[in-house]
Amino acid sequence: MKSRLKVFVMLLLSSLIISQSHSADDSKQLNVTDDTFKCLAEIAASGRFFVDNILGNLDATLDVANSESGGTYPPGSLVTLIPIEAMVKHEDGWNPATNDWEFFLLDVSEEGTSIAARGGVEVVNQAGSCFGCHQLARPEWDLVCSADHGCAPLPFTLEQIRGVQSSDPRCVRQN
Ligand code: HEC
Repeated sequence: MKSRLKVFVMLLLSSLIISQSHSADDSKQLNVTDDTFKCLAEIAASGRFFVDNILGNLDATLDVANSESGGTYPPGSLVTLIPIEAMVKHEDGWNPATNDWEFFLLDVSEEGTSIAARGGVEVVNQAGSCFGCHQLARPEWDLVCSADHGCAPLPFTLEQIRGVQSSDPRCVRQN
């Protein structure tokens, strides 16, 4: 019995070690906090949406965002269509299921941004799962939908989207 217990304890320990090495993916996670998210007018516009790069690599993010043939967004990329939602790209290998994108649902006010929900495939808004819709983008678009990348369209006109973008409450602080 004693040696069986020993084997059991060893198995338990080794499985703990294995699960710890799985969470080594945390080392691929960039530091994203409320302050990471800015008023849309303070970041770069690309087509229908806005982009930033939290590692300072904005040119590389814009290269992909402005490309007519798509590409893989570099780590640090932040993409946002409307103030309350954003996607941030962690380091390669953070979460292969979402191409290393993390989805964010945000509360925004004149005081700034507060992260309401964040994560991978499990994050949802009122219309459903972020990933569920965004995974329909053709592979070369790296989960970015825009108007014609293969996702089912949102029931909003570009004019309506522009209206929401230009009424970002966080921008009030600039005036
Ligand atoms: C019902 C499907 C659907 C759901 C659910 C959804 N999105 Fe989207 N999202 C879209 C579509 C379609 C677009 C492109 C809209 C456009 O440009 O007209 C889009 C645009 C975006 C963009 C701008 C870049 C791009 O892909 O065009 C971001 C960032 C984004 N969504 C993040 C999120 C996040 C974060 C969530 C969850 C909290 C979410 N979305 C939930 C369908 C969805």
